[in-house]
Amino acid sequence: MVRLRVNGKDFRVSADPEEKLLWVIREKVGFKGTKFGCLKGVCGTCTVLVNGTPIRSCQVSVKDVEGAEITTVEGIPSDHPVKVAWKKVGVPQCGYCQSAQIVTAYALLNKNPKPTHEDIVSAFKGNLCRCGTYPRIVRAVKLASEMIR
Ligand code: FES
Ligand code: FES
Repeated sequence: MVRLRVNGKDFRVSADPEEKLLWVIREKVGFKGTKFGCLKGVCGTCTVLVNGTPIRSCQVSVKDVEGAEITTVEGIPSDHPVKVAWKKVGVPQCGYCQSAQIVTAYALLNKNPKPTHEDIVSAFKGNLCRCGTYPRIVRAVKLASEMIR
């Protein structure tokens, strides 16, 4: 049995402590917004926040995040400036990588509400988007930053 705190709620789930957080979040806790790609820690598609910091959930065992505050895309309110800006700019193309991009933007703006262009580019460096939505991601983060101020 593993205890997890996800999106502000406590869950007790039957899981091997070594099981990767990605699968436990998706299959046992039931938040399927977090997607996956390489499963090797390279693409960033599986990004969630642990105590506010983006991590690759395909690389982390659940035993290592017991008691931590985990945030997935579902935990960010739909009226949060990041989600509003994402819609206004129309960031997604196929959408597959976008949960990871949104939680990364949320983490960035929580730590640095006025990021420079370079700060934004650097924060998203490890998050692949096969559709090449990077310019729109940057625009949306800048817009969300303006909305937060
Ligand atoms: S699926 Fe986790 S980094 Fe690619
Ligand atoms: S929107 Fe298609 S992979 Fe990023």
